[in-house]
Amino acid sequence: MGIQRIESVTYSVDDLDACVRFFTDFGLTPVERTAVRASFETAAGQRLHLDTLPDPALPPALEDGPTLREVVWGVDTEADLATLVARVGVDREVALGADGVHRTRDETGFGLGLGLTLARAKEFAPGGPREANVSGAVRRWNAPLEPVGRVRPLRMCHVALNIPKAGQEEAVAFYLDRLGFRATDVVKPMGTFMQCEGDDDQHNFLLCHRPDRAGVNHVSYEVPGFDDVIEGGNHMIAQGWQEARKLGRHTVGSNVFRFVHAPCGGRVEYAADMDRVDASYGTRVHETTPPHHIWTLRSSRDASGSTAS
Ligand SMILES: [Fe+2]
Repeated sequence: MGIQRIESVTYSVDDLDACVRFFTDFGLTPVERTAVRASFETAAGQRLHLDTLPDPALPPALEDGPTLREVVWGVDTEADLATLVARVGVDREVALGADGVHRTRDETGFGLGLGLTLARAKEFAPGGPREANVSGAVRRWNAPLEPVGRVRPLRMCHVALNIPKAGQEEAVAFYLDRLGFRATDVVKPMGTFMQCEGDDDQHNFLLCHRPDRAGVNHVSYEVPGFDDVIEGGNHMIAQGWQEARKLGRHTVGSNVFRFVHAPCGGRVEYAADMDRVDASYGTRVHETTPPHHIWTLRSSRDASGSTAS
């Protein structure tokens, strides 16, 4: 059934030590470290690659400084993989790597890979969010809560890339027409939210033309629940990393979010409770941009910065 998920993302970075510290703090599992590159894994087995000497075969970086260079999408069958590779190969070179990934570039110039989804993705069983209590629907008996502790992202749930306004239709059409993505929300002044064929998240991919330049916007990591979003963000701040937005809940997608500036470029997001949608959701076209969020954290204590109770 086509593309199932993000399989890996690759960044070219300057300060590998800082990036390794960042993603260790963020809660990913380290799987490889050399003097020039490092890799991490989500609970679902997706890989994050950080490389100070990126493969020269990758398309050139689309912005200065550390940035995202490639997204590899995982496909579930050899037959579907062959179909997708043939479709993208109509007008551009596609090279098969030793790792089984077919590599090319998208309309904007971002590195694009297509490979088989790793079998372990199917074995991924993270459990669920904490049970919540409300009068009339009590779910948690005799089970006082404790801190989540170290937050462990379950999976990369979406990638958001910035693209120039010029050519935006072609950039989006490439993913819709050739790679089987479905547009879930088209926000005309801002960008297009897309879902890959094998997933239920309201979006797995966003091409955002509002900044009118190419580059990484953010990569989002799903965590089990609100506590994880809050505690994970708190931990990152305690480790000295800079929050990019206040805690909130998005309008499009409905997920609770917390964003942190990443030394690999762009931002990363802790996300929980995103909308799941199927074909009956259709494509929602917004002539004007909906509010960015349903709510963000507001505090009358912001000005003082006081943390005393
Ligand atoms: Fe996001």
